[in-house]
Amino acid sequence: MHVLIIESSPNRDGLTAACAQAAIRGVEAAGGTAEDVRLKDLRIASCNQCSDGWGGCRPNHRCGGVQDDFQALHERAIAADALALVTPVYWGDLSEAMKNFTDRMRRCEATLGEESRLAGKPVLLVAAAGGSGNGLISCLTNMERWAQHVRALPFDLIGIKRITRAYKLETIRAAGEALARYPG
Ligand SMILES: Cc1cc2nc3c(=O)[nH]c(=O)nc-3n(C[C@H](O)[C@H](O)[C@H](O)COP(=O)(O)O)c2cc1C
Repeated sequence: MHVLIIESSPNRDGLTAACAQAAIRGVEAAGGTAEDVRLKDLRIASCNQCSDGWGGCRPNHRCGGVQDDFQALHERAIAADALALVTPVYWGDLSEAMKNFTDRMRRCEATLGEESRLAGKPVLLVAAAGGSGNGLISCLTNMERWAQHVRALPFDLIGIKRITRAYKLETIRAAGEALARYPG
């Protein structure tokens, strides 16, 4: 099982990075392979909302509106057996970098309906909040809605914040292990 782990914090040693590392440890413990992608190392712009708003992605299911690192990562996400999306909670939502990537992928895949190339693909969704933890649930709700739109399987939705760090990191590690074994 090959798991693509996509994280979207600018901080290399923050909570989001710790969550991604925990997921990697779990995947590898199960004998799977994990590939860590830091969105902040890539250039992925927001959707251009081409033509009348539906854009060329509606008939083509590829993004031709903005040429950047999206296209290659989209293909890697399609090729992976499973995904883990790990975002910091910003304003009760996904961070902008994760939103850009998931928004553009949704347009390409949701327009395929049941033929989405992410259909049934297990996706571990992790939201890492700060001290308040405000907006953790709305962030996870938006991640769940994205998974529904692209027909992916939300394998688990895990919220973590500063005061739950220790036991939730262990939960994410265990989730990574279970994900890499799925459906075994
Ligand atoms: C622009 C911005 C908005 C944020 N909004 C929230 C928020 O709505 N709720 C919350 O609990 N924390 C919020 N935070 C705090 C981050 O979610 C928190 O610091 C998180 O752990 C960041 O992960 P990192 O350590 O990987 O950068 C925000 C941080 C930033 C920079």
